[in-house]
Amino acid sequence: MSTETDLPPELDIAYPAVEPDADTTAGDHDTSMETIVELCKRRGLIFQSSEIYGGLRGAWDYGPLGAALKDNVKAAWKRAMIQMRDDVVQLDASILMHPKVWEASGHVAGFTDPLVECRSCNQRWRADHLEPDADGVTKCPNCSSTELTAPKAFNLMFRTFVGPTEDTSAQVWMRPETAQAMFVDFALIQFASRQKVPFGIAQVGKSFRNEITPRNFIFRVREFEQMEMEFFVRPGTDEQWHEYWIKQRWDWYTRLGMRPENLRVREHGRDELSHYAKRTVDVEYRFPFAWSELEGIANRADFDLTQHSKHSGKDLDYYDQERDERYIPFVIEPAAGVDRTALAFLVDAYREEEATSASGKAEKRTVLKLHHALAPLKAAVLPLSRNEKLVPTAQRVADILRPHWLIQYDDAGSIGKRYRRQDEVGTPFCVTVDFETVEDDQAVTVRDRDTMTQERVSIDRLLGYMQDKLQLA
Ligand code: GAP
Repeated sequence: MSTETDLPPELDIAYPAVEPDADTTAGDHDTSMETIVELCKRRGLIFQSSEIYGGLRGAWDYGPLGAALKDNVKAAWKRAMIQMRDDVVQLDASILMHPKVWEASGHVAGFTDPLVECRSCNQRWRADHLEPDADGVTKCPNCSSTELTAPKAFNLMFRTFVGPTEDTSAQVWMRPETAQAMFVDFALIQFASRQKVPFGIAQVGKSFRNEITPRNFIFRVREFEQMEMEFFVRPGTDEQWHEYWIKQRWDWYTRLGMRPENLRVREHGRDELSHYAKRTVDVEYRFPFAWSELEGIANRADFDLTQHSKHSGKDLDYYDQERDERYIPFVIEPAAGVDRTALAFLVDAYREEEATSASGKAEKRTVLKLHHALAPLKAAVLPLSRNEKLVPTAQRVADILRPHWLIQYDDAGSIGKRYRRQDEVGTPFCVTVDFETVEDDQAVTVRDRDTMTQERVSIDRLLGYMQDKLQLA
């Protein structure tokens, strides 16, 4: 433990770190993107926006179970980053901000990707996503023409107008990251919450980027959600805090069941660092298509508060009473995407296993071994049949569980089929009501998703049993 009060505690957490140019090849996987996309569509987790009109690229809708999964990812993040700590407070800022925010942050001038256009088919591409072929020639992925324009900088921010006048004085941007509100509101929040540096401001919310080539399902989209935290520290303690937050974030993913062999921490190279960053690492996940960024953890130094102070004319420095000194805090920023994180958890949880059906036949079962905290449904209540003797008791059992968790009452099809349906969406427990329940013991059979073992539990004890079994993140 450090003796300085504004240094982080030492954490006994190890993670694999790789060089900036580490190989990104994913290798063999338990699943493919096609399988995950198909499962998500079939089970109404995630599907294309406006599908009946042909869809809108880079926009996805989360159906009933997908919305629950996403809520659970956000809740687990907020629990770890805010609720379980006394040094981080929450902000829910508006998406539209004063346009000067984005001038100060550098987004108006520099939030760009290199855009090339095919002179033959007029398709537009992100130049750094085009791979030259074996002869070193770069071709249009659509029509194979080599006639591509020189790259030009394309700003990724969506613009819109406030009020009825559509001229530049009314122009605003849809925020491309949630981070800036935490800097702009720093002084207000620090004063109102009486937090002392080191402390953090966390926010979960929508961001928008007009990506040139959205791709890989919900990995790169134009409308997405971020979970970002800006942690303000005394200059000189920033490097220790950066290391601390890398470990904390690593721990969060693995505690939620992500397989450590599918995670790594990659250092940004000098040429890759953003204009604001002193040092950045990415937490990368081994997606089926490649090792790719899940979360960026940056040391932003005093860039943002200095910029906003200059552009707004307001002092954003901090008076450190203990040290009797004034300084502009440095900032450590763990910045994750909700959609990308949900995708990584889905991929990581996906398994195809051999199982035995009720009639003793070997069959394949698809199961999402999601951490209980992330599973969209915590339990399914399954009356053995629709027999009128069973229904009132099955509904009573559902009513016992419903105030505590999102559950499903399912009475359609054979029990085996219903188990498979729940396995496929990761429901940890299936609770079956049979004739013995109503005629004999007032107990239900609880089947565990992962072990497929079954236990007889009395209805009176069921709530306590589930509370004991369901792990929190
Ligand atoms: N405030 C710093 C920042 O926004 P970033 O690396 O650009 O950093 C942070 O974004 C995270 O947001 C990424 O690691 C990713 O998870 C998510 N993200 C960024 N762009 C995205 C996109 N187009 N689609 C989905 N998620 C995205």
